[in-house]
Amino acid sequence: MIDGEQLLRFIDCLGSYGRLACGGIYRPVYSGAWVEATEQLTRWMEHAGMCVRRDAAGNLWGLIEGDSPLPSVVAGSHIDTVTGGGQLDGAYGVLAAIVAAAALQRCHGAPRRTLEVLAFCEEEGSRFSVSGWGCRAITGRIKPGEADGARDAEGVSIGDAMRGIGLDPGELPTAVRKPSEIAAYLELHVEQGGILEHMQVPIGVVTSIVGATKMQIEVTGRQDHAGTTPMSLRRDALVGASAMVVAIRGVAASIGDPAVATVGKLYIEPDQINVVPGFVRFTVDVRHAGREGQLELVRRIGEECEKVAEQHQLQVDVRVLRDSAPAPMHPDLINLLSATAQDAGVPYALMPSGAGHDAKGMSHICPAAMLFVPSVDGRSHCPEEHTEPRDLVRGAELLARALERLCY
Ligand code: HGY
Ligand code: MN
Ligand code: MN
Repeated sequence: MIDGEQLLRFIDCLGSYGRLACGGIYRPVYSGAWVEATEQLTRWMEHAGMCVRRDAAGNLWGLIEGDSPLPSVVAGSHIDTVTGGGQLDGAYGVLAAIVAAAALQRCHGAPRRTLEVLAFCEEEGSRFSVSGWGCRAITGRIKPGEADGARDAEGVSIGDAMRGIGLDPGELPTAVRKPSEIAAYLELHVEQGGILEHMQVPIGVVTSIVGATKMQIEVTGRQDHAGTTPMSLRRDALVGASAMVVAIRGVAASIGDPAVATVGKLYIEPDQINVVPGFVRFTVDVRHAGREGQLELVRRIGEECEKVAEQHQLQVDVRVLRDSAPAPMHPDLINLLSATAQDAGVPYALMPSGAGHDAKGMSHICPAAMLFVPSVDGRSHCPEEHTEPRDLVRGAELLARALERLCY
């Protein structure tokens, strides 16, 4: 049904917005590359017969009016990327939804249910110290003052970045969609892990999305001269933080799969070659498929950091920045996606998602579900991210078939 060649062309073209000379893509929300990408998406959506609008957060909605007053079906994903990310994470789900919607109109004309293609403005948390910004605007979960609180590495707030491209953060409440307006949300995404490749199965139907807790650990020691301070007298914040990082890995390993914990950002003061570090701040990304396991991970990581701080005569501050419990996908949509794959003769596997997705946030306001296609070598959030073209096209074809069941 879908135009697979067009999908692959769209993916390569959208991947050019934010391409880094050193490899990969960096397309942070409200950046120049992001604006150009949204303008390109707008053209493609309009060419596919959609009525396009940008909401107050910068989410892009492509609407195909249904001929009944029934609540909409929404399909999409996010268009921002991590730093040095691939061209599929997020973008693939948006482009597949555009191509699927175009094919459905070609084959069947206007849908019974309104079909909305959605490009979330921001999901990754790459630029500002917040994530899921687009989805939280839609589901009414942006906290008062958050737009002027969160800042990027240059100190620019989300609110100022929005104003810089003609958006008004004061209008954010107008982006909220009511649960009664949306009957279902579907998201097609690359798996970003190695399960489907290992099983040699081309399609995953997601059963639940992992719980995630983002922690910040601050370690305070004593800044000293690197040449005159005997090792026995030091209170080196970086040595303490390093011991904590190793201990955190040990906690995740002792709990065992699917527990994971990642220290991805580390900041040192004064960050100078001849000074004993007096202060270190680092983050921990904690995930587990079960809520109990997630809470145990967070608790034990805090305990280990306190223990190491005591051993090294340091102060430590452990805080939770963001926490979201695991989210089950909707059983009726899981069954619909499974039946769609079955009827198409495509082998599929029911599986959890270790990555976070907009479908998790959308499940706050409507039934949500996801389809996965395999990631080569299980790689993502890196320039090497790749999925075979036939898998990309097959995933989009199934998305179109699932939307056909829901909308026509
Ligand atoms: O971190 C995640 O799992 C997603 O890519 N934001
Ligand atoms: Mn991602
Ligand atoms: Mn993603």
